Amino acid sequence: MCGIVGYIGEKNAVDIVLDGLKKLEYRGYDSSGVAVIKDGRLQIRRSIGKIKNLEESIDKNYLKANISIGHTRWATHGKPSKENAHPHTDSTKSIVIVHNGIIENYAELKSSLKEEGVEFKSETDTEVIAHLIKKHYKNNLFFAVQETLKEIIGSYALGVICKDEPNKIVCARQDASLIVGIGKGENFLASDIPALLSYTRDMIFLENGDIAEVTANRVRIADIENNIKDRKVKNIKWDCVQIKKEGFKHFMLKEIYEQPRTIEDTFRGRIYPDEGRAYIEEVKLSKEYIKNISNVYIVACGTSYHSGLVSKFFFENFAKMHTEVDIASEFRYREPILNDRILVIAISQSGETADTLAALSLAKSKGCITLAVCNIIGSSMSREADYVLYTRCGPEICVASTKAFTGQIAALYMLALDLARRKENFSKEDLKRYLKELWEVPAKIENFLKQSENVYKIAKKFAHKRGFLYLGRNINYPVALEGALKLKEISYIHAEGYAAGEMKHGPIALITDNMPVVVIAIKSRVYKKIISNVEEVKARGGTIILIASESDKTASDKGDNIIYIPDCDELISPILSVIPLQLLSYYVAVILGCDVDHPRNLAKSVTVE
Ligand code: G6P
Repeated sequence: MCGIVGYIGEKNAVDIVLDGLKKLEYRGYDSSGVAVIKDGRLQIRRSIGKIKNLEESIDKNYLKANISIGHTRWATHGKPSKENAHPHTDSTKSIVIVHNGIIENYAELKSSLKEEGVEFKSETDTEVIAHLIKKHYKNNLFFAVQETLKEIIGSYALGVICKDEPNKIVCARQDASLIVGIGKGENFLASDIPALLSYTRDMIFLENGDIAEVTANRVRIADIENNIKDRKVKNIKWDCVQIKKEGFKHFMLKEIYEQPRTIEDTFRGRIYPDEGRAYIEEVKLSKEYIKNISNVYIVACGTSYHSGLVSKFFFENFAKMHTEVDIASEFRYREPILNDRILVIAISQSGETADTLAALSLAKSKGCITLAVCNIIGSSMSREADYVLYTRCGPEICVASTKAFTGQIAALYMLALDLARRKENFSKEDLKRYLKELWEVPAKIENFLKQSENVYKIAKKFAHKRGFLYLGRNINYPVALEGALKLKEISYIHAEGYAAGEMKHGPIALITDNMPVVVIAIKSRVYKKIISNVEEVKARGGTIILIASESDKTASDKGDNIIYIPDCDELISPILSVIPLQLLSYYVAVILGCDVDHPRNLAKSVTVE
């Protein structure tokens, strides 16, 4: 998955493309590149790593041109290298392309092109597209792209320019987002809205199968068979908040500290604890439909999947709805039993994750009612789903997700309480009690963050260990998974999250005095059980880092490494117990000198399978 940007108009195209690419860096930063047509020739520049490397390596004045396409890459086929960086050209260097997606039949296409004598310069799946377009090119770029796409199987957002037709960009979309920005005497192309917001608010969201010819003054859209497609121009009302670290050393730390506000923003105007009422206006499900729901399926990836696992407890405990949670990439390739009595909830910070989007579309095609829980307004999932429940976390910049996770938990907690109210199977007193728990969370996190020094000391003590085990039970088992994921993502230390009761079936063999074991042992109905697991670890010489409830007087018997979190009901506890785990991984990564906000091999938004 990658980001693409294009510009055609009077201005210096390279400036605009580089600026747009920086805004898309969340989609990958293995390498980047730009192409321009200048004085009838194609000029291409590519560089390894972040966009700033590319920017520093080029002479923008020399590359001054009125047409350009650019790309920031997250490697799928071929290692991150200059040769594999986009743009890619055909052998005669007359056609150049940028691509986001995966060409599934590229191996067959490549071998038949090779038989025809074509030489390949890269290991990418993308390069076949450039050679195929050249093969079909007969003085009509649009037609050549149409013919090429007839041969291609897979997903793509594509930008193409040709030195013999320097007044147009041809672009195409299939299962990867692509937007055409409309200006005055200039037009744009981008994978996502933020890349263009400084230049225009008028945008066309291309649909699957669309191929667009973009000149400075016109946009013509047709499909592969040349049927004209009439797409509406949408005006984007929202702004990209100024993205700054505001005095924090890293975005991750800033985002951890923002959580009291982002959780409050997410529930503001949606819950009324004194009245015992949660009211999610956006999710306009009728009472009859709610009563008729047989199952809830939650689909998501990564951290969002973990918030789905937490939320299962809300739907079962509050709304009394049978709930299954699935990794989106698994869900889409099995045969889930889906029908109109099943509510499918896709959770995604970005709203763009390819597997989650595909799972959502699958559910919709089977007649399920679909709901997207997203953070990004106008994202692909928010457009695809029947209903959208936005978390209001603001832009999450650090690749490792923190505030989106707690925002999602807050949103789904409220939703489940709202469904419980509308199903009339929950007493007003219970509703009041549970809503009050959520209401009090921001202040509790605020208080906890005042003692982050303690987490730092523990991080310092254990940062040089080579493996960590995270244990939790029940609703805090997904938090153990999330804690382990955070550590892996940003500090590259191997960490495993486990259901504490399962430890005896395997991971216990790993325990030595060299293996820190992080245990979430807050007061809950399984407190005694998890304390037994703590004893099992201690009996084998393991070192415990305990996440305990503030009022737990016996916690100090379990060792020196204790992080207390404010008391709360166990159903809301994940939103609090995850905070020390986020901080622990952050401090470990800082101590180890890792690139916290841009961990290797990862990307913020994974828009390929
Ligand atoms: C990537 C990110 C993770 C994120 C996951 C799902 O892997 O690095 O932080 O949790 O995608 O993203 P989504 O936007 O769908 O929540």
